[in-house]
Amino acid sequence: MLAPAVKLAVDKLTMRYPNGHTALRDFNVSVQTGEMIVVLGSNGSGKSTLMKCVVGLNRPTAGSVEIAGRDLAALSGKALRQARLPLALISQNANLVRRRSVLANVCCGALGRHRTLATAMGRLPRDEIEPARACLDEVGLLHLAGQRAGTLSGGQAQRVAVARALAQRPDVLLADEPVASLDPEAADEVMRLLRRLATEEGLAVVCVLHQPELAARYADRLVGLRRGQLEFDRPASEVSSQQIARLYVDETC
Ligand SMILES: Nc1ncnc2c1ncn2[C@@H]1O[C@H](COP(=O)(O)OP(=O)(O)OP(=O)(O)O)[C@@H](O)[C@H]1O
Ligand SMILES: [Mg+2]
Repeated sequence: MLAPAVKLAVDKLTMRYPNGHTALRDFNVSVQTGEMIVVLGSNGSGKSTLMKCVVGLNRPTAGSVEIAGRDLAALSGKALRQARLPLALISQNANLVRRRSVLANVCCGALGRHRTLATAMGRLPRDEIEPARACLDEVGLLHLAGQRAGTLSGGQAQRVAVARALAQRPDVLLADEPVASLDPEAADEVMRLLRRLATEEGLAVVCVLHQPELAARYADRLVGLRRGQLEFDRPASEVSSQQIARLYVDETC
């Protein structure tokens, strides 16, 4: 049997912000097809910095990010944009365009592939409408396709954000606190969805959470970040509650 493909590999990643603060130091992680990892760590430990380095919103000070075996640092311009296409990011707020329909919001996910004047003016690319409907179906919200995004509940909006990410046809799905503003039932639903996308669709999923019990329930591996450094990277079933608790202890107190 073929070994599962590594979709995302982060090697010795260091991020020092211009003010001199080092938010990430020598950080390594890799994620394979069909795998879901959850990154845990206290406020300010560097989780969002990691996500931003991976999607290219931060330029790392040192180290490398490889997507499907391609080192992003070695690329620029169009080649870099192409190499990043398999990456999709979901954040804490769904960030939907409230006055547009749910379907139009999902179609936006495909716009990276359609850089034409018509799409820039807001027209939906015709051949993306059916795939976008399929993405909405995937998250169980096809019946809301025509509804204005501004009328959705928080949980529905976050599932639409997942559908919009899927319209990008990603191999790697990054989710930075995707359930932070959701009630327990809606949070569970979004986590189930991310888990299914990994298991059934083969996506490599990296999710940042502040809920260790939710992480343990859904992740293959738990990655602990503490002050910008890797504390542990282990199968979820092997991480003890003491190891998790240590992530949240402030030793400076
Ligand atoms: N642009 C920036 N310039 C300087 N320092 C920054 C910048 N962005 C983040 N930091 C600092 O880097 C550290 C890590 O921030 P980051 O946002 O990655 O934390 P986090 O783990 O995502 O926290 P949270 O759980 O609160 O979202 C923090 O100390 C933060 O103040
Ligand atoms: Mg953060």
